[in-house]
Amino acid sequence: MLLRRLLGLFSVDMGIDLGTCNTLVCVKGEGIVLNEPSVVAVRKGTNQVLDNGNAVGLIAKEMLGRTPGSITAIRPLKDGVIADFDVTEEMLGYFIRKVHGNRGLAHPRIVIAIPSGITAVEKRAVYNSAERAGARRVYLVEEPKAAGLGAGLPIHEPTASMIVDIGGGTTEVAVMSLSDIAICNSIRVAGDNMDDAIANFMKRTYNLMIGPQTAERIKIGVGSASPRAEEPSMEVKGRDMISGLPRKAVVNGEEIREALKEPVGQIIDVVLRTLEQVEPELAADLVDNGIHVAGGGGLLSGMDEVLAKATGLDVRLVDEPLTCVARGTSDYLDHLDEWRQTIESDQDEY
Ligand SMILES: Nc1ncnc2c1ncn2[C@@H]1O[C@H](COP(=O)(O)OP(=O)(O)OP(=O)(O)O)[C@@H](O)[C@H]1O
Ligand SMILES: [Mg+2]
Repeated sequence: MLLRRLLGLFSVDMGIDLGTCNTLVCVKGEGIVLNEPSVVAVRKGTNQVLDNGNAVGLIAKEMLGRTPGSITAIRPLKDGVIADFDVTEEMLGYFIRKVHGNRGLAHPRIVIAIPSGITAVEKRAVYNSAERAGARRVYLVEEPKAAGLGAGLPIHEPTASMIVDIGGGTTEVAVMSLSDIAICNSIRVAGDNMDDAIANFMKRTYNLMIGPQTAERIKIGVGSASPRAEEPSMEVKGRDMISGLPRKAVVNGEEIREALKEPVGQIIDVVLRTLEQVEPELAADLVDNGIHVAGGGGLLSGMDEVLAKATGLDVRLVDEPLTCVARGTSDYLDHLDEWRQTIESDQDEY
């Protein structure tokens, strides 16, 4: 016990948002210190991370879709869950080492935000990765709770708070009250599916093959969920499917909105479905408290508007939706001793 306390003095506790697209790390008292894509470059057919385990994050994202034959840049998390355990472990280890680096002598305590629907096996994998990367103790918190805290919602109070977190791999919709999740639904439709929908549209309509990064640029540049006063347009480059040669095309906001109709519709549906399951008292609270949208997908132009229209409730995009969950894990770090009972840790029984 004493030894643990002593070790604590020399270590830096961290909060991690392990996302499908982006991983963010914050350190107690310092805020967000790392924000990098969840991407790893490996030698094809192996789990061997290139560059002595350092081809991770920003460096690896540059390689995505542009790698020569023997190298692949992979995203070890897919649809909000760990698709490749070994590579996730390598990636998490790299980020933890990068942050912890030469700061402390001892092992940190780490709070990790995980999707609320993950299985016991997947939880175990997260624990193992963090432990192997040098964590002294690992705590897991559900993403919607972390998002709620990060957004400054009163999730500990006896009133309903509702978060719609539209990430890269999953959209999680949760209603919380008294530190607990009352209802949570998660679908594997979020920002990545929007990119896929755009890539498919370009193929169908323009016979143009585009890569995932180009699709994302189109979404951010001209994509929307509801009409804009002035529809922007954008030049897109890719490979012609018939001639096989590189070529350009120009797309406008209206056609991309049409292409995004399906994923956006699925997100609206899960929000409506969740509202239908809410107890009447909590539903009554939501009339006053409204819905808060977090996650990078929430930045899609007009997403808040379509949700407000469909639900009839007040819908607000939280401040800095991309860092909301990470900031929430930081809140957990600040209150670890106080909230310990409500957080799962690697020393709990399974
Ligand atoms: N301005 C924008 N407009 C539309 N989408 C955006 C914008 N900025 C970022 N995104 C999208 O947000 C998604 C990433 O969001 P976020 O970082 O919250 O996901 P994540 O936490 O990594 O994923 P998950 O929570 O599903 O594991 C990507 O699909 C990205 O393209
Ligand atoms: Mg997320």
